[in-house]
Amino acid sequence: MDQVLEEIKKMAIEIVSEARLPSFYLDYNELIKQSREFFSRDELIIKIKKDLFQTLENNFGHGYGHAKKVAVEAGVIFLIEIKKAGGAENDDHYFSIAHTAGLLHDICRKEKNHAKKGAVYARSYLEGIFTDENNIDSVAHAIANHEAFCDFYEKAPNFEASVLSDSLYDSDKFRWGPDNFSHMLWAMLEHTDISAAQFMSGYERGINSLKKIKKTFRTSTGKKYGPEFIDIGIEIGSSLLYRIKNELGIL
Ligand SMILES: [Fe+2]
Ligand SMILES: [Fe+2]
Repeated sequence: MDQVLEEIKKMAIEIVSEARLPSFYLDYNELIKQSREFFSRDELIIKIKKDLFQTLENNFGHGYGHAKKVAVEAGVIFLIEIKKAGGAENDDHYFSIAHTAGLLHDICRKEKNHAKKGAVYARSYLEGIFTDENNIDSVAHAIANHEAFCDFYEKAPNFEASVLSDSLYDSDKFRWGPDNFSHMLWAMLEHTDISAAQFMSGYERGINSLKKIKKTFRTSTGKKYGPEFIDIGIEIGSSLLYRIKNELGIL
């Protein structure tokens, strides 16, 4: 990556480390711990991680680290939403399908229409993994519908699938907050030869899409906590722009 971009990345990581924590992490600390714990101990999830780790890595900033965070937090949102609707007798079942969807959602990230293609991939991969066909339908549906600013919205096969889909979407878009500036942006740029000047010319557009994503959260949990993730991301983006102007003299 360009030397100046390396400097900008260092500044961004510093700013993120000093930024406020989204209240989702404070309000659901215990449930997040439970979800993380399931993610590291469950045999099925361990198998999926092993099978797909290599494919997920180097996935244009949407590699294993991204998939893990999406999985763990989708599990939390899914459980909260199912409980609100009066369900959830077995927490493990909900963690299991949300984590699977999170791990697989960007598996075709390098391809055009990655959400639809990812759903097809997930369906064939999961044939030998899940015995219950409903789980495969739910995961494939959620993956097909996870893309932002996209007209395609497949009808959910049942209530559980629709809640899973919305939970996956919201967890994926939580990543457009601080994570965007600590990881995603830089991992994406690593695979390009974009110059600092080109990066700066797209800066305002980038911040504008953050503003747009704020209105797209789908679950009640996402609507409550998502905009704060994005606001923190926008604050980080503004502080970064200030430092770029003042310390690097760009613009
Ligand atoms: Fe995606
Ligand atoms: Fe993603």
